Amino acid sequence: MKMIKCYIQHEKLEDVREKLFELGVPGLSVVDVRGIGKPMSQLRSDPAMKGKRLPHFLPRVELTVVLENEAVDEVVNMLTATLRTGNLGDGKIFILPVEDAIRIRTGERGHQALY
Ligand SMILES: Nc1ncnc2c1ncn2[C@@H]1O[C@H](COP(=O)(O)OP(=O)(O)OP(=O)(O)O)[C@@H](O)[C@H]1O
Ligand SMILES: [Mg+2]
Repeated sequence: MKMIKCYIQHEKLEDVREKLFELGVPGLSVVDVRGIGKPMSQLRSDPAMKGKRLPHFLPRVELTVVLENEAVDEVVNMLTATLRTGNLGDGKIFILPVEDAIRIRTGERGHQALY
């Protein structure tokens, strides 16, 4: 199992929700967050930026999906295709390993707990 964490712009959320439904993911969570991407490292390393202010937080949505390994590629491909405009701030995807899942009501674990 893997966990996909994806930071996206709010206006993309409905489109992504619809496409995740079409792909049949087992579930998802979203939370409103504030984040900083590349400017965090860029402003430090670029001498031309010396003295520039600390970058500001921007509002984003953090989307989390736990799914089977086999489903990761198609979800990541969908996310990149749906979210890519070519502009700064299109978002970022992280993929994390997941040890196990437990459905509390039944005690089911692993794959059984996902679906
Ligand atoms: N290394 C990171 N750790 C945690 N969150 C991150 C990291 N990088 C990006 N994020 C989150 O992802 C959001 C979107 O990042 P963003 O799309 O601006 O990435 P970027 O690296 O700046 O790329 P781009 O140059 O395309 O803008 C950030 O606002 C932040 O919430
Ligand atoms: Mg950025």
